[in-house]
Amino acid sequence: MSKYDVAVIGSGPGGYVAAIRCAQLGMKTAIIEKYSTLGGTCLNVGCIPSKALLDSSHHYHDAIAHFEEHGIEIPGEVKLNLEKMMDRKASVVSQTCDGVKYLMDKNKIDVFEGVGSFKDKTHINIEKDGKTETIEAAKTIIATGSKPANLPFIELDKERVITSTEALKLKEVPKHMIVIGGGVIGLELGQVYRRLGAEVTVVEFLDRIIPTMDSALSKELQKVLKKQGVKFHTSTKVKSVERNGDEIIIKADDKKDKEIEIKGDYCLVSVGRKPFTDGLNAEAAGVELDDKGRVKVNDHLQTNVDNIYAIGDVVRGAMLAHKAEEEGTMVAELMAGQKPHINYNLIPGVVYTWPEVAAVGKTEEQLKEEGVKYKEGKFPMRALGRSRASGDIDGLVKILADEKTDEVLGVHMIGARTADLIAEAVTAMEFRASAEDIARMSHAHPTYAEAVKEAALAATENRALHI
Ligand code: FAD
Ligand code: NAI
Repeated sequence: MSKYDVAVIGSGPGGYVAAIRCAQLGMKTAIIEKYSTLGGTCLNVGCIPSKALLDSSHHYHDAIAHFEEHGIEIPGEVKLNLEKMMDRKASVVSQTCDGVKYLMDKNKIDVFEGVGSFKDKTHINIEKDGKTETIEAAKTIIATGSKPANLPFIELDKERVITSTEALKLKEVPKHMIVIGGGVIGLELGQVYRRLGAEVTVVEFLDRIIPTMDSALSKELQKVLKKQGVKFHTSTKVKSVERNGDEIIIKADDKKDKEIEIKGDYCLVSVGRKPFTDGLNAEAAGVELDDKGRVKVNDHLQTNVDNIYAIGDVVRGAMLAHKAEEEGTMVAELMAGQKPHINYNLIPGVVYTWPEVAAVGKTEEQLKEEGVKYKEGKFPMRALGRSRASGDIDGLVKILADEKTDEVLGVHMIGARTADLIAEAVTAMEFRASAEDIARMSHAHPTYAEAVKEAALAATENRALHI
């Protein structure tokens, strides 16, 4: 029987990063993945394919709607080749997954394909095609991720009533896609199909879209998406989803408690994700789950069984690839006797619509709830030379700083390339910068980043220069 210092179950961004860091720190490491490709949800059916489709659909939409204003004329009609767009996405995914396999080989990590299940706290059975192999591991990291959640009354036929996984590989552009859930998945994939020509209607239970982000971002994103033709029903409770041939009929109660009916040909259900532990046989090792089905962990990501750890979507906290990666690194370093630390307040959140939405730290709603006295600086993207040059004038940057100390407590932005701009805010907050610190740093001109400096100037004695 093969023996390892560490076995990692699951090869998503949590698991494969944990395996690399363990190997770097000298541990003999195995990784177990039930699918034939490595990379988990993120690389196969999450972050990477969704961003490939967002980028392709953005190019298509620009060609139709914006090239002309730049003086670019296309003789004849711009045509969509959905099959080719999907093939490109598939090849981006396979290159990225192959990259993870390369990293496993480079770091001499043994890869096992099959479902990993605990035999006891130090032995794992790996089952594939009816055959079982057992390995021994002194320590194990559970990184089994998550899967789409559903509403109890919805039957996902995965053909027309679908999750993100199917939405990433549709063979036709829907005529009318109804999206249940105005969160990250619904808005990113809703925008993809809107750009490709579908009518898109988003039905959201709460009173605003992206409800966990600062309400200024919800408001601005909804305004921009509305301009792009996306329809919204907020404060609306879906009661039933029925399929009649190719038609989908949704009944819901709107904000006035009036029943509405929406008809479409596809329904994307994007109401969150839930932790995945099926087949893991956690009980055999004595590992406890919480009431939401997540693996219970302490501050060191250790389960109730001392040699077993858990990371990523399967434990508490944000379901984000970079959060899973940080936890993978942390667990490996803890095992090696180091003292790593994650500042969960500084895990940024990004929605890759265009304009992009990005945030870190506390929202205004959270500061109010916590009774923290704060000041605010805002700057609109439209006042930037760079935004006018590119034509990306929607959005704003909002900085929240402590009223007395001026320490930056939260940065919320929507606009072109804010997914990348947010890194400046994370760095500043990691070093506990004040808004004045950011305001006094030189930002290259003309860039979108100047909006961060200007918002910081606005937060400190209202001295933004370009508005
Ligand atoms: P996962 O990536 O889910 O990996 C878990 C792996 O474990 C899977 O490969 C699974 O097959 C395997 N596994 C499970 N059980 C077993 C078992 N018993 N034996 C063997 N293998 C097993 N996050 C971002 O930060 N940015 C984004 O842009 C982004 N976009 C997304 C878009 C979509 C459409 C979706 C669905 C998600 C997106 N996410 C994004 C979320 C991101 O994908 C997850 O947060 C991330 O993948 C979690 O990583 P993980 O390692 O915890 O688990
Ligand atoms: P989400 O939690 O982002 O959004 C779900 C939305 O559905 C919420 O707005 C919620 O209020 C709404 N909702 C819940 N029940 C409802 C109901 N009965 N009727 C109508 N609306 C309802 O979840 P989503 O979009 O499914 O994504 C799952 C996870 O994947 C997220 O937690 C996110 O972290 C991750 N993800 C991250 C991305 C990124 O970082 N860019 C992209 C895509 C997914």
